[in-house]
Amino acid sequence: MVISAPAHHRARQAIRDTWGGESNVSGLRVMTLFMLGVPSDPGLAKMLFEEAREQGDLVQGRFLDSYANLTLKTLALQSWVRRFCPQAHFVAKVDDDVLFNPSALLHLLNKSRSPYEQSDLYLGKVHLRVAPKRDPRSKHYVPNEAYPSSVFPDYCSGTAYVLSRSALLKISLAASVSPLSTAQPPEDVFVGVCARAAGILPTHSSLFSGGPPMPYGRCCYQAMVSVHHIAPRDMLYYWADIHSSGQCLWLSTRASLCMCKVGALLGSVLGLGKEA
Ligand SMILES: *[C@@H]1O[C@H](CO)[C@@H](O)[C@H](O)[C@H]1NC(C)=O
Ligand SMILES: *[C@@H]1O[C@H](CO)[C@@H](O)[C@H](O)[C@H]1NC(C)=O
Ligand SMILES: *[C@@H]1O[C@H](CO)[C@@H](O)[C@H](O)[C@H]1NC(C)=O
Repeated sequence: MVISAPAHHRARQAIRDTWGGESNVSGLRVMTLFMLGVPSDPGLAKMLFEEAREQGDLVQGRFLDSYANLTLKTLALQSWVRRFCPQAHFVAKVDDDVLFNPSALLHLLNKSRSPYEQSDLYLGKVHLRVAPKRDPRSKHYVPNEAYPSSVFPDYCSGTAYVLSRSALLKISLAASVSPLSTAQPPEDVFVGVCARAAGILPTHSSLFSGGPPMPYGRCCYQAMVSVHHIAPRDMLYYWADIHSSGQCLWLSTRASLCMCKVGALLGSVLGLGKEA
C-alpha cells in the first residue's frame, strides 16, 4: 500500500512502471495499491477520479488529504486491508518517493522465517529512543497532551515498513482504542505506540533505508528492500538498471552495500542529508 498525495500523479505512474507493476515474485502474488484522501481542490479530485477509472488501483479514504491527516490515512489503510485483503500474509506501507523491491523483501522474509508462519512481524528501519520534538515551530512538533513521555517507543521509519497479518490486526485494534487527539504524533510514531500497546516489538533490517539519501549502486539497490528520496525519473532509470543484467554475486553485493552506506553516512556528516 503506497501512501500517496493526490497531486503526485507522476510518482504513482513511476511506481506502476517499476516495482508496483510486479505481480508474481517467484510464484508468490504481490499487488500494489495507492491510498489517498480527498483533495481540497475540485480539479484535482476530478483528475483522481479519471486516474482511478483508468488504473483501478486507487483507494480513497473519507478525509481531507493533508499532511496533518497522515495518521488518518494509515488508519484507513489498516482498516481497508483488514477488510478487503484477508488472504494477504503481509502488508507493506510505503511512501510514494520510495524505490521498493518486493523480490528483495520476499527473499528476506523467506530467509528469516517461513513466509506463512502466523506470527507478529513489524519490520523496517527501526528508530531507537527518539525524543518528541517540543518546539512548536518544528514540522514534527508533538505537544505534551498528544504524547507526555520523554521518549517514543522504538518504531519503524514510516518511509517503508512491513506488517504480518496478525501484527496488522493487533496494531489496528490498539489504534482503535487509542484516543485520536487533534495533535497527532507523526504517523510512524503512532504505529510504534500502537505496536507497543499491542505487545509487538519492531524488527530492524539494514535493507530498509530511512536515514540520509543513499548514492546509487547497482548491486546495493538490487539488495535493498527500500530506498527513499527517489524522484520519479530516477526510479525508472534505477529500476531498469537494476534489472539490466543478472543477479549480483554475494561479494559484489556486500561491497556495493558497504559503499552505499558509507556514502550515505558521509552525506549526512557533510550536511547533505535532508533529514534532521
Ligand atoms: C510466476 O512465476 C513462476 C516462476 O517464477 C512461474 O513458474 C509461474 O508460472 C508464474 N505464474 C504466473 C501466473 O505467471
Ligand atoms: C482531516 O480530515 C477531516 C475529515 O475530512 C477534516 O475535517 C479535517 O479538517 C482534516 N484535518 C486537517 C488538519 O487537514
Ligand atoms: C524460499 O527458499 C526456498 C529454499 O531456500 C527456495 O526454494 C524458494 O524458492 C524461496 N522462495 C522465494 C520466494 O524466494
